[in-house]
Amino acid sequence: MARHLITSAIPYINGIKHLGNLVGSQLPADLYARYLRARGHEVMFICATDEHGTPAELAAAKAGKPVADYCAEMHAIQAEIARGFHLSFDHFGRSSSPQNRVLTQAFAKRLAEAGLIREVTEKQMYSVVDGRFLPDRYIEGTCPNCGFDSARGDQCDNCTKQLDPVDLINPRSVISGSTELELRDTKHLFLRQSELRGKLADWIDSKADWPILTTSIAKKWLNDGDGLQDRGITRDLQWGVPAQFDGAPWQGMDGKVFYVWFDAPIEYIAATQEWADATGGDWERWWRTDKGAEDVTYTQFMGKDNVPFHTLSFPATILGSAEPWKLVDYIKSFNYLNYDGGQFSTSRGRGVFMDQALGLLPADYWRWWLLSHAPESADSEFTWENFQQSANKDLADVLGNLVSRVTKFCRSKFGEAIPEGGHFGERETALIADLESRLRSYEAHMEAMDVRKAAIELRGIWVAGNEYLQAAAPWTVVKTDPEAAAAMIRLALNLIRVYAVISAPFIPAASASMMAGMKTDDWSWPASMAEALAVLPVGHVFEVPEVLFRKITDEERVEWQARFAGIRT
Ligand code: MF3
Ligand code: ZN
Repeated sequence: MARHLITSAIPYINGIKHLGNLVGSQLPADLYARYLRARGHEVMFICATDEHGTPAELAAAKAGKPVADYCAEMHAIQAEIARGFHLSFDHFGRSSSPQNRVLTQAFAKRLAEAGLIREVTEKQMYSVVDGRFLPDRYIEGTCPNCGFDSARGDQCDNCTKQLDPVDLINPRSVISGSTELELRDTKHLFLRQSELRGKLADWIDSKADWPILTTSIAKKWLNDGDGLQDRGITRDLQWGVPAQFDGAPWQGMDGKVFYVWFDAPIEYIAATQEWADATGGDWERWWRTDKGAEDVTYTQFMGKDNVPFHTLSFPATILGSAEPWKLVDYIKSFNYLNYDGGQFSTSRGRGVFMDQALGLLPADYWRWWLLSHAPESADSEFTWENFQQSANKDLADVLGNLVSRVTKFCRSKFGEAIPEGGHFGERETALIADLESRLRSYEAHMEAMDVRKAAIELRGIWVAGNEYLQAAAPWTVVKTDPEAAAAMIRLALNLIRVYAVISAPFIPAASASMMAGMKTDDWSWPASMAEALAVLPVGHVFEVPEVLFRKITDEERVEWQARFAGIRT
């Protein structure tokens, strides 16, 4: 059995994520982690919150809280919601952890020793009253283009023009409102990524099996030149990893921190250290190729906007360090999920956010819809009609109905135990053969991380069972040939266990209910369908489970559609 390291892009700390964020990284990563564990592989599944940078500082200020407190609270909230969605992280870390500070500073030192860091002096807005430099988002003023009076230093939200803080008319500090601003020299550290172009290009070229979405973005940035310009890795901020080297000050870097995109991916490693510190586990065998990680397969999940950072910037940090760190083997990236004819919008409250979703329906409804409509080859769109249809049909009519029909029928005719019955006939043999080949194709799609194709095949497996029952009609046959009907039900009850096992990566809670109903904890993955469909022996006691999936009504659909439409502007 292989060892698999899986990371999901780490969500920003400021605010609760929407369903589009979820399906772009954490959820498919969880699907894959669950599948690999079910197949007997050893898995380390890591995620964390991305806590540094201006958005965190500003959100904390808005909430009227010290930034450290704000982050601690938001981390707890995001962790709770992740549990609600049954995201099976081995560790959900924090980029503000001491482990990440130490590791980030150690990387910086290695890069400096390798001659890959240079100092650059720039001019930046300084607020005399606040006693600090102001990054773009900390400056507001009147837009020179449209006259909007709250344009930000980097962009005007009214006319969308990209701005430089010096363009603003009457610029003022967002912190104090002070207009006493002046341009001052400030020194920053730049990572000489351009030096690593050859190495990065060779490495990317060696990844012939990567998805087209990943490779095309990586190559575009690599070849455009823009992507590999030397990159500023420090900022004039207070909240972040202090710009020091192995804890020792770097001249002129007092009061500066590393740029959030420098320390965030390092948190993948640091979070594994956090896990090790908490459990006594060994993180090095996952990350150090000199300590056993050479036989680890490392897969990253992320939205397409994150691809340049994971194909160029983070690998530049790793390769530049010239230390034996594990590099990613496969990058699964996603397009965007749109919401009902537009985009999800955090500021306008448009679309469904993770906490709201769990307030409406259990996680499995969302997991199933999102994964079966994952934006893989193109952007995809959430509509309430589609969601209702897919939940009611796939989950309630097909899977849920099979479970309840079979268990209730058995209870009323044969009692709550697996009945004996006779040998299987032609129809059963054909079903088993069909399921066998469908299962192998399901496995192939899961291994290839073809999420939609896997979902289609899984649904096909559910449908095949339903169609079999429809055609075999044990409820009719029982009147003339109870032996034959009992054999059909023996098969169907076993099918419920098989469905629970293979569906668990998509709908873990429903699978657990099915297993509880079947009173078994034999989660063994079917090596062959014929064997798997005989795991529950004759006489094995079960109980009729609660309704697995209720239907979404038209009234609910209409009400929810209105509720999540956002503030109209
Ligand atoms: N916080 C970023 C986002 O949500 C992702 C960071 S991924 C990491 O887009 F690699 F930096 F960790
Ligand atoms: Zn404007």
